[in-house]
Amino acid sequence: MPERIIFNAFEMNCLAHMAHGLWAHPADNRRRYTELSYWTDLAELLERGRFDALFLADVLGVYDTYGGSRDPAVAGGVQVPANDPLLTVPAMAARTEHLGFAVSVSTSYEPPFGHARRLSTLDHLTRGRVGWNVVTSYLPGAARNFGHSRMTPHDERYDRADEYLEVCYRLWEESWEDGAVLADRERQRYADPAKVHAVDHAGTWFDVAGPHLCEPSPQRTPVLYQAGNSPRGREFAARHAECVFLSGVTPEGLRRDAEDIRARAAAQGRDPRGIRLLTSLAVVVAGTGAEARHRYAELQGWVDREGMLAQFCGTSGFDLHGRDRAAPLVPHRTDHGQGAAALFAEGRPDGPTVGETADNAAALGRTTLLAVGSPGEVADRIEGWVEETGLDGFNLVPFLAPGSFTDFVDLVVPELQRRGRYRTEYEPGTFREQLFGPGAALLPADHPGGRIRAGGASARTAGAAPG
Ligand SMILES: Cc1cc2nc3c(=O)[nH]c(=O)nc-3n(C[C@H](O)[C@H](O)[C@H](O)COP(=O)(O)O)c2cc1C
Repeated sequence: MPERIIFNAFEMNCLAHMAHGLWAHPADNRRRYTELSYWTDLAELLERGRFDALFLADVLGVYDTYGGSRDPAVAGGVQVPANDPLLTVPAMAARTEHLGFAVSVSTSYEPPFGHARRLSTLDHLTRGRVGWNVVTSYLPGAARNFGHSRMTPHDERYDRADEYLEVCYRLWEESWEDGAVLADRERQRYADPAKVHAVDHAGTWFDVAGPHLCEPSPQRTPVLYQAGNSPRGREFAARHAECVFLSGVTPEGLRRDAEDIRARAAAQGRDPRGIRLLTSLAVVVAGTGAEARHRYAELQGWVDREGMLAQFCGTSGFDLHGRDRAAPLVPHRTDHGQGAAALFAEGRPDGPTVGETADNAAALGRTTLLAVGSPGEVADRIEGWVEETGLDGFNLVPFLAPGSFTDFVDLVVPELQRRGRYRTEYEPGTFREQLFGPGAALLPADHPGGRIRAGGASARTAGAAPG
């Protein structure tokens, strides 16, 4: 029996997320991103299509690396304006029963206590359908927005994120013991004070007393996603992530990174099969392959090249503006996203030229896997990539919203279902159980958060826990 393939929809609470310029296409609906009904309609569509989750990206600053100016990003609506992603979730949850919500929140600017509380609240309100994409943020402007004179260096951002997560685990997993909530009407006792603990964390970056303000939610810790591709990012992912979002444009590169993450996870004492690995995929599908290729060419004609470059330069830290197209772009480390910087250097030790990089960055679907064809052709590509890369699934990047998702649901999902690669019904349970099976509502014991839960319990059994 072939494994089912995981599918998320990749979105952002903004006008233009990845396919810049396409918001102006007559068939595009993104202009409605400020309306609640845009999000509730999308959630209903995705649940009809039996998606695992809606994955929401987020940034906290404006893309201003390209030519040292924010104008191309602002003019093209390139992830600016951008509204808060978390606030859309309760409304979508009210209109769905099973769809998960994986939301990007940065560890670099807002301290962990309030964040842990917000995610516990969402996990309650969604009955356990929340995930957190842990990001460290790569835009220098974001640092300035939160009172920092400069962005924290790349690897140090991950060190800080490690401590951030430790604080969250202690709040989510340790602070309220199982059985702390009594809800005893007769004795008028809601909770047992002996089972609610301070965390008293005093660390390098954070001091948090606790206890957590929320009672345990269905998953305690939300499903943890991570999307860093640098060596330090992969080490972080191997320690914390349950789902890793790899960026790559070749099956060989994706397989290599997937194997690296699984090996790093095993070295940290985790079961490598307990991690789901995904990458981004764009699909243009139509009744026939010729029709789909025609549609892709038509969509490409709507691309805002300056907008695409604004995003690539901000993500990678390479400013391509005004540079000689024939010059080589030698890969080098920046404090932005190192995964993005390496994307087009795959198999090119001397690096591609500036011109090749700019053309790739500005083409629809070149920073992701891309399948253009009939439903059968698209399903063949998807199955082939799963085989070649060892990945578990995909984040679907729309060119038209919600048209790309509608086409996928109506044309590709039935084909994958026929092949036994796509669920036909949801199983009951939390987001984590959808991904890892019935009974897996909480972090497993081999995860650092699961170990904190178990450690808290064993310390208490030994009578050593602070009250
Ligand atoms: C597919 C993908 C999606 C990402 N989504 C976000 C996001 O929504 N917000 C964000 O701040 N960073 C996002 N990132 C950036 C990463 O979380 C990470 O901060 C960045 O890639 C730098 O880390 P790295 O050098 O380890 O790759 C994403 C990265 C990838 C590859």
